[in-house]
Amino acid sequence: MSLYQEHRRRFLQVLSEERVAAIIPTATEKTRNHDCHYKFRPDSDFWYLTGFAEPESVLVLLPDWNHEDKAHSVLFLRERNKEMEIWDGKRLGVEAAPQALGVDAAFSIEQLWTELPKLLKGYEQIMVRTGNDEAFDRQFQSMLSGLRARARKGVEPPVAILDPAPWLHELRLHKTLGEIENMRKAAAITAEAHVAAMAQARPGKMEYEIDALLDFTFRKNGSTGQAYNSIVAGGANACILHYVENNAELREGDLLLIDAGAEWDYYASDVTRTFPISGSFTEPQKAIYEVVLRAQETAVAAVQPGVPTKAVHEAALHALVDGLIELGLCHGTREEVLEKETYRDFFMHGTSHWLGLDVHDQGAYTEDGESRPLAPGMVLTVEPGLYVDPENDQVDAKWRGIGVRIEDDVLVTESGHENLTAAIPKTVAEVEAACQANWESVA
Ligand code: GLY
Ligand code: MN
Ligand code: MN
Repeated sequence: MSLYQEHRRRFLQVLSEERVAAIIPTATEKTRNHDCHYKFRPDSDFWYLTGFAEPESVLVLLPDWNHEDKAHSVLFLRERNKEMEIWDGKRLGVEAAPQALGVDAAFSIEQLWTELPKLLKGYEQIMVRTGNDEAFDRQFQSMLSGLRARARKGVEPPVAILDPAPWLHELRLHKTLGEIENMRKAAAITAEAHVAAMAQARPGKMEYEIDALLDFTFRKNGSTGQAYNSIVAGGANACILHYVENNAELREGDLLLIDAGAEWDYYASDVTRTFPISGSFTEPQKAIYEVVLRAQETAVAAVQPGVPTKAVHEAALHALVDGLIELGLCHGTREEVLEKETYRDFFMHGTSHWLGLDVHDQGAYTEDGESRPLAPGMVLTVEPGLYVDPENDQVDAKWRGIGVRIEDDVLVTESGHENLTAAIPKTVAEVEAACQANWESVA
């Protein structure tokens, strides 16, 4: 059974318990300009349940709570079309879909709105996520109206339309072994890319050259691409948290912050490293780097099953605050700095988010209003940082414009955690050695 069939089986079990059918469409193609599209990327929920990457596809899941073995999955997809395939590429087609994907039945996407009312007959509740695609929402509403209009003729329209998120995203939060394998693969490719960037970056190169090197390294290893737009931020650009212009020259003596991760089979990695463009940290850069590193290592160590998620952030925050006081960037005791939140001038984001098919992956962070305990199979990032605004005239000039973030991807295990991106140089000595490595060829 494929990874995706296994996900489908698990979700069908939930649907059976909840006595509800589900409709899961994939993403729509997005126009880039005129008649060009962005490269297609399937919807993460749809991919999770099918492993099928063609646009114009909808999965329908129909549990039978009286006969577990009769639950079935129906895929609507594009028909084969010789002429269209010559222009736009091969299609799996309706006939091949059941065998290739393990679905019980397949129909042409053209038949979706005529077949759906028949398939959904007898289901009082339907899960469908609305709000992603107006055309789909309109057609769905129109189908519902049609069913309601026929109520007098004995048709029983569904009475509850539910968002699948609480159930489906709960499944996605707990990774299966196959998913963890995909994330390891994404992490390994990302490691190669960051190491290549450390070796290749030097004064006079452009941020976009390093951006291209990262992308090249992802793609040459068979990655499905970037998990998000790479951030390649030299010098003070590192203080812009979502800097993606990547068009400045790398300068002697500056740091380079790279936040970039590859996808494998659409599973993300999300890694940040910060390193000296000229090969060696200056004293102020090293002082800030060491504080962030200590905070990051302390926070990674806090990742344990049963520990509330927010404890990871608190571990990082406390270590950062202690460091800011030691460096003279914040004043007072740890408690005073936390109370007045003066650390926010230098650390203004969270420490972690879930990671999976989406870089900021789905899944609830709280349970009954409380920070939810970590459990084996969850994957989260640990990414503290310090950023000194280049225009901050309250601090000594030597600190201004220094931005450092260190980010790893951490799997919660039965006994503690496993850092999936531990292979990427991180200590001062490791990073300087990787920057000084003579990596001339990228081919
Ligand atoms: N790369 C996005 C993030 O770190 O959250
Ligand atoms: Mn990141
Ligand atoms: Mn992140």
